[in-house]
Amino acid sequence: MTLGILAAMHDEIADLIALMQHETSGAQCRRIGMRDYYAGEIDGQPVVVVLARLGKVAAAATTVTLIREFGVNAIVFTGLAGGVAAQTHVGDVVVATSLIQHDLDARPLFPRHQVPLLGIERFATDDTLTRELLHAAEAFFANNLLSAVGAETLAAFGIAQPALHQGLIASGDQFIGSASEVARLRALLPDLLAVEMEGAAVAQICHEYGVPCAVLRTVSDRADDSAHVAFDEFLRRVASHYSAGIVRQLLRRRRISGRTGAPRPTRMSENG
Ligand code: ADE
Repeated sequence: MTLGILAAMHDEIADLIALMQHETSGAQCRRIGMRDYYAGEIDGQPVVVVLARLGKVAAAATTVTLIREFGVNAIVFTGLAGGVAAQTHVGDVVVATSLIQHDLDARPLFPRHQVPLLGIERFATDDTLTRELLHAAEAFFANNLLSAVGAETLAAFGIAQPALHQGLIASGDQFIGSASEVARLRALLPDLLAVEMEGAAVAQICHEYGVPCAVLRTVSDRADDSAHVAFDEFLRRVASHYSAGIVRQLLRRRRISGRTGAPRPTRMSENG
């Protein structure tokens, strides 16, 4: 069972690639479409790790390559998000149960947010993988948070007791950084937890190919006028540790529960 792992920013996967290189089997790198795909193992689990870069087009293209060239059986996206709901604070984790493209609007031809000719607005993530990711995040918070991030850094970013949320995430090709934009999104999507720039594209491709997917986001900002201020520092000092720690917990759990096996054959015929 090969897991495809992708992220938008280098820091979110750097530790995972380093871990692969320490496994006895090492990591094989293949460059396709200007992206480096690292295939190997982490904690004895087969994985392909890749930097997708930012935005929906980049995420969709990378997801297709993971499925068609590497035959991954499931996909996890790990990255940052802006918290939109009142309860999503910096340092929290949001695991998507569904994803929507907030900037997709082909009215009057199709309803707002609906993917034309697919008839879907919200893409559901895979129940089992999402549950596994939630348990992995719980275990990371309980066992690894303090040692991975450090008390000083947690205090510097005002992270006391990070919470875990599950629900709707919205993706669009925009960094959301104003209170008025957040208010507009909240009015359109009252159950929205967080915004980012890739997840719904990954979920759409996974739906089209019949591949289970899950999306994990660390809340880096509140998508308001100060959203950009500590972005890079948060990524480097906090979110990179969350990503590596939670993905590792996920892989350990999958190994223990025996979710391993032969990878899907590559270049198989398309599903649907
Ligand atoms: N990723 C992290 N914060 C974000 C924001 N405010 N808007 C879009 N994507 C993000």
